[in-house]
Amino acid sequence: MTSLPKIYCAVDTPDLNTAKEIIAKISPAGIGVKLGMEFFNANGPQGVIEILESCNHPPIFLDLKYHDIPNTVAGAVRAASKLGVSYLNVHASGGLEMMRAAKESCAPETKLLAVTLLTSIDQQEANRIGYEGSVSERVVALAKLTQEAGLDGVVCSAHEIKAIRDTCGPDFVLMVPGIRPAGAEAGDQKRVMTPKDAVATGATHLVIGRPITKADDPATAAKEIMDSI
Ligand code: C5P
Repeated sequence: MTSLPKIYCAVDTPDLNTAKEIIAKISPAGIGVKLGMEFFNANGPQGVIEILESCNHPPIFLDLKYHDIPNTVAGAVRAASKLGVSYLNVHASGGLEMMRAAKESCAPETKLLAVTLLTSIDQQEANRIGYEGSVSERVVALAKLTQEAGLDGVVCSAHEIKAIRDTCGPDFVLMVPGIRPAGAEAGDQKRVMTPKDAVATGATHLVIGRPITKADDPATAAKEIMDSI
């Protein structure tokens, strides 16, 4: 589907030098890098530029999950995609118009994904915020809306891969966190899946943090995961 790497290593730190050290360690494996709010709020767009320029231009998934009125999100996506990142995301619950505006303003070389429902939202929380129906129905409905808006795919939990793949067809990016190689510690992740099973079920890309960053040899850990899929 894409020549971009299948694995994005979550570099969750506010410290630019720590991020550079982690990226230097994983770069022999040729995988991508996920930078999120923690990094971006500490280092800003300049931090992203610095990573691109000093770490040999790794493919970056900039995970900032925009959610605002269409005009504002369009402006944010226009500015962020100009940085030269490979993936950006918005919240699908921002609606069809918001997602269409975001896609229109996104640089063509940047793929735009949507978060359906945060995996921290369980059925009880979904009911509390007034959502009707089951969490999985809502996830699939939001994935369909994302596709209708013309985005490239969604970020979803491993347990939603099959339902979304069945609904949205083969050409939809499914970027999946909560991945643990067989035998790795789950940490705070509640429902995990191995890289092999996630890809076999229909994931196109995997977000993997600590099993790579906390390994004694991060590049080897990343290569082993790639070999396993
Ligand atoms: O270290 P670990 O592999 O658990 O890191 C997973 C990464 O994916 C973290 O950056 C986390 O914030 C992110 N993420 C997640 N679950 C989601 C969405 C994002 O773990 N549903």
